[in-house]
Amino acid sequence: MWQLAAKLTSRLPAELAHNLTIQALRLGLAPVASKLLLPTKIAGMAFENPVGLAAGFDKNAEAYVGAFRLGFGCVEVGTITPLPQMGNPRPRVFRLTADDAVINRYGFNSKGMRVAAAHLSSRSAKHGILGVNIGANKLSQDKAADYHKSAAHLSRFADYLTVNLSSPNTPGLRDLQHEEGLRACLQAAFDGRDEAGGPKAGRPPIFVKLAPDLDAVELFRSMDIALDCGISGFILTNTTTSRPASLFSALKDEAGGLSGQPLTSLALQKIAEAAKHLRGSGQPAALIGVGGIGSAEQAYARLLAGADLVQLYTALALQGPLMVADLLAGLRAMMKADGLSTIADVKQAGLSAKQAVRHASHVAIESAKLHSDN
Ligand SMILES: Cc1cc2nc3c(=O)[nH]c(=O)nc-3n(C[C@H](O)[C@H](O)[C@H](O)COP(=O)(O)O)c2cc1C
Repeated sequence: MWQLAAKLTSRLPAELAHNLTIQALRLGLAPVASKLLLPTKIAGMAFENPVGLAAGFDKNAEAYVGAFRLGFGCVEVGTITPLPQMGNPRPRVFRLTADDAVINRYGFNSKGMRVAAAHLSSRSAKHGILGVNIGANKLSQDKAADYHKSAAHLSRFADYLTVNLSSPNTPGLRDLQHEEGLRACLQAAFDGRDEAGGPKAGRPPIFVKLAPDLDAVELFRSMDIALDCGISGFILTNTTTSRPASLFSALKDEAGGLSGQPLTSLALQKIAEAAKHLRGSGQPAALIGVGGIGSAEQAYARLLAGADLVQLYTALALQGPLMVADLLAGLRAMMKADGLSTIADVKQAGLSAKQAVRHASHVAIESAKLHSDN
């Protein structure tokens, strides 16, 4: 029934389908996955499993309870801006079905931090780890000040905060991933969080979300600055502005950020580079792998390359809500086939991107064989 509903909504315009899905989740009209435990701990937070819902799905923190019920160990709401704003004119999101991809140029359509805070304040039970992703208003003259405002207003509702500097749809935002801009935005978020108060030990860790379009030198430089500011983790990656030659959908030249399968290898490459850099520098920070993860095999490869957790969005939109539980079951089977019992053991492998893909593909075949023999 749920897959049928997903099929029906896939015939609707993408934004309408998304809005209907948010309402369905909000009203509890969605499947409830049985709990699958693959516990892991990062930045002082205990996750029931390492698969999270990426930012952009629940922009106004309306549907996170329903999203947790799909089986996610973590839901990241947002991006939330301080003031409400409409975002770009429609149409602004496009399915590239033949490429298993999406292009979006929403441009932070957000009801603003006050509305999000009202939704978050009614969080009664802890269903999992809740991340709050914050961004700047398009017309803001002082973008760093926006991160200060949102961190101050929202940190008490968050298990962690994400400073999003990598949306390609807010002019100038990606420039803040470098040098003084980066330092200023991160410092502002830390100051906002600390001014919000609460016991020091209870203040949420802060992550930064970066673009896949940074080259290795830029990525390492940004990571070093962020670590110097006290960042606890890196979310790699946001959507890409690049257009791989392999795309063949008619909509491939729409402006915006590309997500889904064509992003897989680029985002994996960034995780492998970041993991190597952290190993080399000896700095402890979490790595959250996002971008083109649509199967257990792809999630496993991301963990083998050094991610502590993974997140996804596009695959959920294109495959439907049952994919979360399927992916988790597949991931557990692959770990079992490899004789690994914890997510930390998987990350320990520290494979290169190429090795991770090769190994995950081999294990996927072996665990599928095992499954069919049983
Ligand atoms: C329609 C859409 C809207 C998005 N909006 C946001 C956003 O508001 N903030 C953000 O940090 N990332 C946003 N993203 C990026 C995703 O969180 C994710 O980083 C990216 O899509 C790659 O993952 P995926 O291939 O699993 O979708 C959005 C992605 C999509 C497809």
